[in-house]
Amino acid sequence: MVGILSMGSNLSKCSPRISIPVKFARKWGNFPISCRDQYKQFHNSPSSSGVLDKVNPFKKNSSSVCPPVKCCDDVIRVGGVEIPMYGYGTWQLETDLVDSSIEYALDTGIRHIDTSITFGNVEAIGRALEKLFKCGKYCREELFLSGKLPNFNMKPEDVYKVVSSYLEGLKVKYLDLFMIQFPVGVIVDKCCGEYVADPYSDILAIWKEMEKQVEEKRVKALGVSNFNIRQIHCLMECSKIPPANLQTELHVYNQDCELVKAACRCGISVTAYAPLGSPSLVQHLYNINGSDNNVGDPLMNNAVERIGRKYGKTSANVLLRFLLQKGIIVIPKSSKPDRICSNFNVFDFELDACDIEELGSLDKGKYGRMFTDNVWQGTSKHPEYPFPKT
Ligand SMILES: NC(=O)c1ccc[n+]([C@@H]2O[C@H](COP(=O)([O-])OP(=O)(O)OC[C@H]3O[C@@H](n4cnc5c(N)ncnc54)[C@H](OP(=O)(O)O)[C@@H]3O)[C@@H](O)[C@H]2O)c1
Repeated sequence: MVGILSMGSNLSKCSPRISIPVKFARKWGNFPISCRDQYKQFHNSPSSSGVLDKVNPFKKNSSSVCPPVKCCDDVIRVGGVEIPMYGYGTWQLETDLVDSSIEYALDTGIRHIDTSITFGNVEAIGRALEKLFKCGKYCREELFLSGKLPNFNMKPEDVYKVVSSYLEGLKVKYLDLFMIQFPVGVIVDKCCGEYVADPYSDILAIWKEMEKQVEEKRVKALGVSNFNIRQIHCLMECSKIPPANLQTELHVYNQDCELVKAACRCGISVTAYAPLGSPSLVQHLYNINGSDNNVGDPLMNNAVERIGRKYGKTSANVLLRFLLQKGIIVIPKSSKPDRICSNFNVFDFELDACDIEELGSLDKGKYGRMFTDNVWQGTSKHPEYPFPKT
């Protein structure tokens, strides 16, 4: 999305230009200058020769117990940080599997971990990281750690204490990225005990507190999650520190191309959550309220499977590669070592223009969204509910 490599005119309508942030395809000369300029303009990073730079400033030292075979050194440089294009999602990562999964993910070469206090495993992740730092296998500076302000903490006075919880939980001195998780705050209704929208949450006041966290060096960059185009523009107009990243649901069934393009125009990098279509969401919804998302499983899609066979790749590889080629950061979650490893095999092949077009055509528009008010309970009647109604 940001570093964009022209791939001809027969691509998907919604992604006429795609980027290839991969080791084997660094053709910076082909990047449209306008996109680079947008980044420089918004993030004032004159040192950046292209937005997606091969930086890899954190070469592992020779005392490493187990140096990774490969490393995701493909990064998007934005807002003073370098965000690895391939991260590790931690929603539904059971605490007893955190230790082994985090170590395995890092050994695989992943350097970016997406966390949230709402996932209930931040302390376990912190313990796993502390162990790995203490034995010298990895160090804090080579990792990119993100956290989010939960929508039940959407108050300016909560920002400092939430950041403190991450720093204490993860046992680190700073977060690389701190995001507002959802644009509508919620409170518990005293009568029914359920979440209802908080009519008083003030995003701009919250953002100002978040900016202080950057000034105090507790956070390196700021971001938003689940924001729509209008909300992003509104924040851009009023913020001293613009968002460096938008984390939003993106996969072949929910491509949200207008949002991705708008973020690009604002110089904001985009991270896809649920990049594999979050297959376990169905069970989660069933457990919490007996609902279903009715969108389907992109991992089981015939076209995705066929394209995978063509390259000798899994469906998961195809889904991730599709997003990466659009310059979108991916943060797939798995607690299974074989999947953590095989999912990461996305840097040695390139989907051709026909495949990109076919995958682009799988978009279901607003009917492809899986995370709606089924997850963000109590928010849909609020005027700042970010998604179109279906
Ligand atoms: N900002 C937000 O509001 C927000 C919302 C949701 C998620 N997120 C973040 O985004 C991350 C990714 O989203 P997600 O976890 O919902 O969805 P996802 O990464 O699309 O899918 C994860 C699920 O897919 C399974 N899986 C992984 N690899 C697979 C493979 N090769 N074949 C079949 N199944 C596979 C995993 O199960 P196993 O573990 O059993 O392998 C897990 O159940 C989250 O973990 C979280 O960090 C952010």
